[in-house]
Amino acid sequence: MTSTKRTNGGTPLVEMRDMCIAFGGVHAVDHVSVDLYPGEVVGLLGHNGAGKSTLIKMLSGAYQADSGEILINGEKADIQNPRDARSYNIETIYQTLALADNLDAASNLFLGRELVTPLGFVDEDAMEAESRKIMARLNPNFQKFAEPVSALSGGQRQSVAIARAVYFDARILIMDEPTAALGPHETQMVSELIQQLKAEGIGIFLISHDIHDVLELCDRASVMKNGKLVGTVDVDDVTDDDLLSMIILGKKPGEAAA
Ligand SMILES: Nc1ncnc2c1ncn2[C@@H]1O[C@H](COP(=O)(O)OP(=O)(O)OP(=O)(O)O)[C@@H](O)[C@H]1O
Ligand SMILES: [Mg+2]
Repeated sequence: MTSTKRTNGGTPLVEMRDMCIAFGGVHAVDHVSVDLYPGEVVGLLGHNGAGKSTLIKMLSGAYQADSGEILINGEKADIQNPRDARSYNIETIYQTLALADNLDAASNLFLGRELVTPLGFVDEDAMEAESRKIMARLNPNFQKFAEPVSALSGGQRQSVAIARAVYFDARILIMDEPTAALGPHETQMVSELIQQLKAEGIGIFLISHDIHDVLELCDRASVMKNGKLVGTVDVDDVTDDDLLSMIILGKKPGEAAA
């Protein structure tokens, strides 16, 4: 059972407690609490506009919460901006993959954090060598080091984005729709990458619209509706219909319909 991980796990990597944020009159996230353990994948499900990305943006430092608190490894974290989030080893792979299309994989991997020679020049060779090392570990089939990433497939682009996060020591990885727009083969590739990251003890919040992806890739799933948390379930304990009714009706399995 996946739940043994949590009972053995002790302190969660991340606890988001009673998070709230509103934009104008819209309560985008309304008293939501979620947590994440090392080596665990927690899926965030919900309709368009449910508040999934907004919740996660408070963890990645893109938005500041109106109220609520975030604990990392059991200690209260102060996350005001993306740089703060990085200092807690939180890395995000956004819904719209933030890759520079005209640059190659190595340049993307180190974008904004370039390696430099002792004289202060960008060290292309070192960046390519490091890229090859990390790709050999994550996606040994990856060969396209010289091409601009615009020439890569969706799955290959995902692996560059994941490599980038892992290289910079992500312990907490946020993936917003990692398999959207990917074919079955590419989805498989991303799912293998996720298994590998889990095995390394990385915790992953995975936002997805795809119930089957969530059932396959996640240990637990938290469902949101209209900014509120419907509930969090062990994926082993639910069917796809259970998840669907949580998403659509906003009811946990067993809860009476309204
Ligand atoms: N910067 C913003 N300014 C104003 N409203 C916002 C902002 N960001 C999000 N919202 C609103 O907050 C709500 C939640 O949006 P969010 O992007 O978190 O949804 P989501 O669950 O990620 O949806 P999707 O599945 O479409 O990505 C929506 O009503 C959205 O319009
Ligand atoms: Mg979103």
